[in-house]
Amino acid sequence: MSFNFLEKLFYGQSSNHNDFSVLAVDMHSHILPEIDDGAPDLGTSIELIKELMKLGYKHLIATPHVMSDIHPNTPENIKEKLEIVRSEVAKQQLEVKIEAAAEYLLDDHFEYILEQENWLCFKEKYILVELSFIAPPPNLETYIFRLRTQGLTPILAHPERYLYFGNQYHKYKRLRDMGCLFQINLLSLTGYYGKDVKKNALKMLKKGWIEFLGTDCHSMNHIEFLRKGLCKKAFERVLSNHSFYNSTLLS
Ligand SMILES: [Fe+2]
Repeated sequence: MSFNFLEKLFYGQSSNHNDFSVLAVDMHSHILPEIDDGAPDLGTSIELIKELMKLGYKHLIATPHVMSDIHPNTPENIKEKLEIVRSEVAKQQLEVKIEAAAEYLLDDHFEYILEQENWLCFKEKYILVELSFIAPPPNLETYIFRLRTQGLTPILAHPERYLYFGNQYHKYKRLRDMGCLFQINLLSLTGYYGKDVKKNALKMLKKGWIEFLGTDCHSMNHIEFLRKGLCKKAFERVLSNHSFYNSTLLS
């Protein structure tokens, strides 16, 4: 099946969705202030939250990066930022629920996090993990296995962006067979990260491998591209023809 056919399949027709309210929950974003490469200050955090509300979200799970070298965040400092944002949200009477978890890079430091059992997950079982964009960690399967044996369900963030896997879809299948769920970025469907990433995202959707959609919102630039995607009906077929777990996270 050609990519053009897939594209027509997912991108044609008129829209029943002019926002993401059908998802209700965004479980991947970088909206906490001064903690990673997302919101640089509290004002921007609130601005992003208001824009995500306008896009139809009722519940936002902030997932700051945890990377040993660049963003050495911990549950403790993430919770501190969460409380700062929550109090401003309450002050401004914004009707949105804000939670915090994290996006864990599966690097060598993750071994230490596993040993300490000091992580932030959501719904008491989901842990969002990401891989390097350069090469997969050699111990990837070991990490997934250990998370599973510790009672957690790993969600692999943006699998469509790890282009080094190429067409080796059996490698993704192996992770899924081990109990790993997948989350693709909404922006991947618009071509924001390039045509190969978009093609990969559509293929994974077609295989029925995607449980969650996330904004991975870092900035107002991402908001603008999400809004542009809605104007072009880029998300219509995906939202209409697939069901996702996002709304099961509502509480
Ligand atoms: Fe992210």
